[in-house]
Amino acid sequence: MRNCKITDELVVDFQADTGINAFKVQTQAMKSWAMTARQICDLEMLLTGAFAPLANFMGEADYHSVVENMHLTNGQFWPVPIALDVSKTFADSLNLGETIALRDEEGVLLATFLLEERWLPDKTQEAHLVYGTENMDHPDVGDLFRSGDVYLGGQLQAMGLPTHHDYLQYRQTPAQLRRHFRINAGVPVIALQPQQAIHRAQWEAACQYAQKHNAGLLVQCMVGRAQPEDKSYFARIRCHEHSLQQSPEQAAQLNLLNHATRKAGTRETLLNALISRNCGCTHFIASPEPADVLQKYQEKLGVCILPAPAPQTYLLALSDAELSRHLHADLPVPDDFSFPEVLAEIRSAYPSRNQQGFAVFFTGLSGSGKSTMANALLVKLMEMGGRTITLLDGDVVRKHLSSELNFSKEHRDINIRRIGFVASEIVKNGGIAICAPIAPYSSVRREVREMISSKGGFIEVHVSTPLAECEKRDRKGLYAKARAGLLKGFTGIDDPYEIPENPELRLDTSNQSPAECTGQVLRTLVQLGYIEP
Ligand code: ADX
Repeated sequence: MRNCKITDELVVDFQADTGINAFKVQTQAMKSWAMTARQICDLEMLLTGAFAPLANFMGEADYHSVVENMHLTNGQFWPVPIALDVSKTFADSLNLGETIALRDEEGVLLATFLLEERWLPDKTQEAHLVYGTENMDHPDVGDLFRSGDVYLGGQLQAMGLPTHHDYLQYRQTPAQLRRHFRINAGVPVIALQPQQAIHRAQWEAACQYAQKHNAGLLVQCMVGRAQPEDKSYFARIRCHEHSLQQSPEQAAQLNLLNHATRKAGTRETLLNALISRNCGCTHFIASPEPADVLQKYQEKLGVCILPAPAPQTYLLALSDAELSRHLHADLPVPDDFSFPEVLAEIRSAYPSRNQQGFAVFFTGLSGSGKSTMANALLVKLMEMGGRTITLLDGDVVRKHLSSELNFSKEHRDINIRRIGFVASEIVKNGGIAICAPIAPYSSVRREVREMISSKGGFIEVHVSTPLAECEKRDRKGLYAKARAGLLKGFTGIDDPYEIPENPELRLDTSNQSPAECTGQVLRTLVQLGYIEP
């Protein structure tokens, strides 16, 4: 295999000169469009030449031509529409011939755009012909359909590139890669664009191709939708680093591209092959589409399509997340399936349930026993050891996080959202959050469930002790005050408590001891797999 490793430091150099700074002042008067994350990816791909021959968002004629027959109006092959979609309200506020400022979500100017045309696309047709209706619910596709109803065509003028802070050593632009490959004039370069971690069979096949063609190997990852807080993204890149270490002379090169995937099937893979050609690659290992589908387009793509090796084991077909479940379930993985460092990364990026964070969210009337339960659970989990636990008790949160809030519906909802946010951060980092507010309204409880479930476990415990019992206990004397009309809007008296419909557990503390109740919570956690029996 040829050594195509880039040793000199390559940093995207797009410094604004003073002329551009002066121009930036002028742009203050322009109408601004805050670009979505996907549009920013598209912009970067257009500006760096990764989308060549496309250097601009498409106009209407090109858009139709690409959607209907995968060619630009000048006859060049192009598989996927790249359009600037904006809201109807914003589009209606513009005049043709006007220049607008395209900014990132923080307001940083990325480009200006001279508006030449705008049109209402037939998004149903676009979905049908490009993405396939079965993918419509996928978040990567949904974003294409929610963000804007009107498409804009015009002239882009670059002001800067989006800033990245991660893995700058792998973020070479296509021009930098081409320059680099041309240094080794005439050297073939094979592109491998892995969808998952690279295991032994794939890696060996890629290395064999490289040896056979005396070629360099470029491993390209489309990381346009990676979130900086996403552990699995960093784990994936570390997996690739481990796999690349295995090449004979460690001669392969890793490259990250800020390209947003679209679930456009064959069209998408064709676009990826075009991107690799633009990066100086001469060969493209077919993935995920089979080689015979792509080979038909070989001439138009300008890269030679190489078949991916046939998977010798069903394990190769598993996603990283599925593979981790397989590993955690102690299902067999042959020794030679992957590299030990890669498997270790996957295990730790997708922990088993009993290593994931979770929140136990107690909800119920004042005096129902939430705080007692929360404290008892805290202590039991502490006795077990090995975990970090945070208690977010209603009264304590009111003192430290929400001291300015009252008990109106609006303020109670804010209070619960704050608790939900803090708990979701804790859960995201593998901790246990025990929350114990009244949380009387179901809609905000649902919000919190959604916020936390994407990061780990959410266990709602309805402490269903009847009002009469809570009132009898009246530990703080507030029920008496409320009954006397001295405290308005008290939950259960003159403010509603909406009973949870589907909590993971319902507990009435009037007929069970705190120890019995805690036992039930612990059993539920064991049943759901969040703690070991
Ligand atoms: S929540 O509605 O926003 O979830 P939270 O759990 O923070 O309420 O606070 C409830 C505690 O505040 C009660 O246990 C009680 O001590 C006190 N409190 C003061 N006023 C009210 C009220 N109007 N309704 C309910 N609890 C109140």
